[in-house]
Amino acid sequence: MTSALYSREWTGGRYTRAAEDALRELTGAPHAVAFQSCTAAIHAALLAHGARRGAPLHTPAFGFAGTLTGASHIGVRLLYHDVDPHTGNSVDPAAAPGALVLTPDLHGVPHTLPRGDVITDACQALGTLVDGQHVGAVGTHCWSFSATKLVAAPDGGAVTTEDEGLADVLRQLRDYGAEPGTARANARITRPGHDWRPSELSMALVVEELTYRLPGAACRAREVGEQVCKTLADVGLWHQQVPVGTEPAFHKIRTGLPGQSTTALGAALAGLNVPTHEWGRHTLPEHPQFWESGPEADVTAAAELAAGTFCLGTETCPPWTWTTDETDLVCATLETIMETL
Ligand SMILES: Cc1ncc(COP(=O)(O)O)c(C=O)c1O
Repeated sequence: MTSALYSREWTGGRYTRAAEDALRELTGAPHAVAFQSCTAAIHAALLAHGARRGAPLHTPAFGFAGTLTGASHIGVRLLYHDVDPHTGNSVDPAAAPGALVLTPDLHGVPHTLPRGDVITDACQALGTLVDGQHVGAVGTHCWSFSATKLVAAPDGGAVTTEDEGLADVLRQLRDYGAEPGTARANARITRPGHDWRPSELSMALVVEELTYRLPGAACRAREVGEQVCKTLADVGLWHQQVPVGTEPAFHKIRTGLPGQSTTALGAALAGLNVPTHEWGRHTLPEHPQFWESGPEADVTAAAELAAGTFCLGTETCPPWTWTTDETDLVCATLETIMETL
């Protein structure tokens, strides 16, 4: 951190490269390109995959605005799909071969689409394992290091990919569209790029956290997730089901009763000092900026999840930060509440 300060190399220096190396090592993806945020990373990944104004983009109707911010600036035609009512993740969008699909690993629970065929918003999936390996070795994955993530810095994001050509385009897009070379200030601009370079200060933190903090945080996220989801299942509340062979590092734990009001459960939890927060209370097509521009889809499961579920803990004190005692207390509170509700 101090050496980042003294180097006066504010972007594009050794910490950006070290964060990319650490992410390649973590995921097993051959290439990593760091960005200022995951929102920028997704925007760039869409452009690098050929997204253009009016071109179709298949995406689930449940999720977070940051997934679609870049898409809306590009002006793609959003084709929404309903989600699996058990996981909240994408079901097979039955897109035409070669069509662009952008889909998240909701709250760290991995989607089950073929990863090489889609762009994954893996913002919430740091620490998640599939078949014992960290998710992200194959396909295009977009990562976030923003304040509430398992690896948190003031800001930061990245794209990982196995495609060297795609990685080169991503580097150009984040750097004004300048062709790679040493004298960037005079480089030829051959793409419509942006200044999406991450700061060396943030990347210095990201390197530390990816290397030293993530293994413990991910382990804790998996433990707490397993315990709380078991309790939720025992008391008859909704929780995200976990696909076979996967071990999610639960970035958030979502519960409630899809399609029903959350008022009574939320109030009972608040009354017993268990904080909750709302995330995704509007389906994506409900946002005026992201309204459906393709044929209207049946998104009943997405709407029921949005209306009937919320997240345990707060954004700054999510379940993976809870101690054993705190986790036990939340589980006991859920049991008590559900006996009386
Ligand atoms: C699912 C999802 N997508 C995208 C984003 C945007 O990430 P960033 O804050 O790094 O731009 C977030 C961040 O909260 C997120 O949770």
